[in-house]
Amino acid sequence: MRDWPRGVIPFGGDYNPEQWPREVWREDIAAMQRAGVTFVSLGIFSWSWVEPSDGTYDFGWLDEVMGLLAAADIAVDLATATASPPMWLAQAHPEIAPIDHDGQRLWPGSRQAWCPSSATFTAYATRLAEAMARRYHDHPALAMWHISNEYGCHNTPCFCDTCAVGFRDWLRQRYDSLDALNEAWGAAFWSQRYADWSQPLPPRRTPTFPNPGQTLDYRRYQSDALLQQFLAERAVLLEHSPGVPITTNFMTMRHFSHLDYHRWAAHLTEPVDRISTDHYVVDLLADPWAEQAFCGDLTRGIAGGGPWLLMEHSTSAVNWQPVNRPKPVGGTIRDSLTHVARGADMIGFFQWRASRAGAEKFHSALLPHAGEDSARFAEVCRLGEIAGRLGEVSGSRVESQVAILWDYDAQWATQGPALPSAQVQYPDLAIEIHRALRERHVPADVVYPGADLTAYRLIIVPTLYLVSDAHAAAIEAAVATGADVLVTYFSGIVDERDHIRLGGYPGAFRELLGVRSTEFAPLRPGEVVALSGAHSGSVWSEDVALAGAEAVLTFTEGPAAGHAAFTRYAVAPQGGSASGVRWYLATRPDRDTLAEIVGTLCASAGVEPVLPGAPDGVDLTRRRAADGRSWVFAINHTDLARTVPVTGVDLVTGRHTGGQCEVPAGGVAVVRED
Ligand code: GAL
Repeated sequence: MRDWPRGVIPFGGDYNPEQWPREVWREDIAAMQRAGVTFVSLGIFSWSWVEPSDGTYDFGWLDEVMGLLAAADIAVDLATATASPPMWLAQAHPEIAPIDHDGQRLWPGSRQAWCPSSATFTAYATRLAEAMARRYHDHPALAMWHISNEYGCHNTPCFCDTCAVGFRDWLRQRYDSLDALNEAWGAAFWSQRYADWSQPLPPRRTPTFPNPGQTLDYRRYQSDALLQQFLAERAVLLEHSPGVPITTNFMTMRHFSHLDYHRWAAHLTEPVDRISTDHYVVDLLADPWAEQAFCGDLTRGIAGGGPWLLMEHSTSAVNWQPVNRPKPVGGTIRDSLTHVARGADMIGFFQWRASRAGAEKFHSALLPHAGEDSARFAEVCRLGEIAGRLGEVSGSRVESQVAILWDYDAQWATQGPALPSAQVQYPDLAIEIHRALRERHVPADVVYPGADLTAYRLIIVPTLYLVSDAHAAAIEAAVATGADVLVTYFSGIVDERDHIRLGGYPGAFRELLGVRSTEFAPLRPGEVVALSGAHSGSVWSEDVALAGAEAVLTFTEGPAAGHAAFTRYAVAPQGGSASGVRWYLATRPDRDTLAEIVGTLCASAGVEPVLPGAPDGVDLTRRRAADGRSWVFAINHTDLARTVPVTGVDLVTGRHTGGQCEVPAGGVAVVRED
């Protein structure tokens, strides 16, 4: 094995040489060197090539590719090759195919056609992982193991009979008795009482609303089942290839909520495991950059605040949106460095060479169909040079005084059946508040409610509909030691079983916030209501009554007219100890109002921007190394050059800024501060 590339931010992507004749491989390696590629992820979808029939291995071609990469000093993130089962396995064991909500089998002929609960799949996948580990554990190109690919992207939830059995076992471990299960699921309702452990089922299609507790537990179960698949392969690698880092690529994107990555991360430990993720810009979002920045900060939160690896993103267009537009010139570099600005210590892409056949032939790549004689490849080469100069940043941490809480259980529960308003989407306010902070040049960590919150000046609790007693207590404890907190509507409503917290809303946070509502009054699609001042809100309102807090903004129209829309509760410190200010927001404010609210919160909590006096339209973060060195990342999202007041050497241009750093339109600066 070899070390992970040092002195650079590793730069490269998925390499699928099996899609090309041998002659192309040498051209690939030479072009990779011209582009400054320092790592590739190899073999992710190669199962049918390394194990062409049951128990028969063909490593010849992979040996050759590994040899070429070793000779070129390109590090390999080597896949266990188990992401997609081969046809012979699908044929021999058709039962490993997942079954969807309606009982429809998902057939082979695409990818990831395997059931999360399948022990048959585990047996074949771990056998291959072992063969790979035995073959390559001491290969000079091997730098990291890559298990599977984007767990759960296409194969969860699966509703097959194997999953039904697995789910029952999982339930028996979670609930000691059927009485406890019946209580947790509220099974007294609609005659759903379970009298025997053979009765609970996956939440398959039902005549009307399924049981919310069952639905929520099923999501937990599916995430855990896939985690077990991952851990089984990981155990094999630890046994047969100890000392080599291990990763599996997550998908921290707004539209992907299949797995509880916080729960997964709890099983991943330094120095073995590396948190890596894939992120693709979704063009059709109203503000794709807001989502992109948020997801980078979420990944950092999952990685415990430390560096993480950007395993995949795209150089330009993807192929899975209704319309797939290329990135603008400079967009490849800007997107890559946006992730580095938020803690990524690697820049990876899907994929090295654009395919000429198959379902992804129109997906962009480092080396486009047009070849090296293309503007995109020129930009890729430039990015390779920049990555080569960014090595000093590696290992440093992003600084932040603000935490935004994010919890997959809460997200899943807000996706459950029959809630007060389909307009409440879990990520909406989290991402909007994050954007408003970004616009003030204030970075935020996106963290699990169970994380250590004590160092933050300001804690944002957006739409934390489901909150456990422990998490509610942790938030209260952070406030008691001086952090300010903003809780937004539809938070604290249920416990971890999705049972309502009785006595008035917002349940778990009523006393903390000094407010109490007795009825929700969600707004209709498109309905906007006036608030006091020139402000407005949408999506939500409720009959907030003050129980200690004061009203800052009030609904002046709509179903909650006359009630508070935004409140402040400042409790006098007891016994000299600090106590933070508690804010409650009972609507989704218009953009200007939210900007004002976020300004008020930052001023109250003493939260400072990365640099004072920086211009609008530029994202700023600061990464700091343990020895005190620091780098300011400035990402210009505007069409005009912007000047940022920072002194030091810009690693992108190699020039000293002289105090004023010009960041080109759509460009990036990474300034090592003097
Ligand atoms: C990812 C996946 C890659 C490729 C890419 C296309 O989800 O891991 O294999 O399919 O999407 O955007």
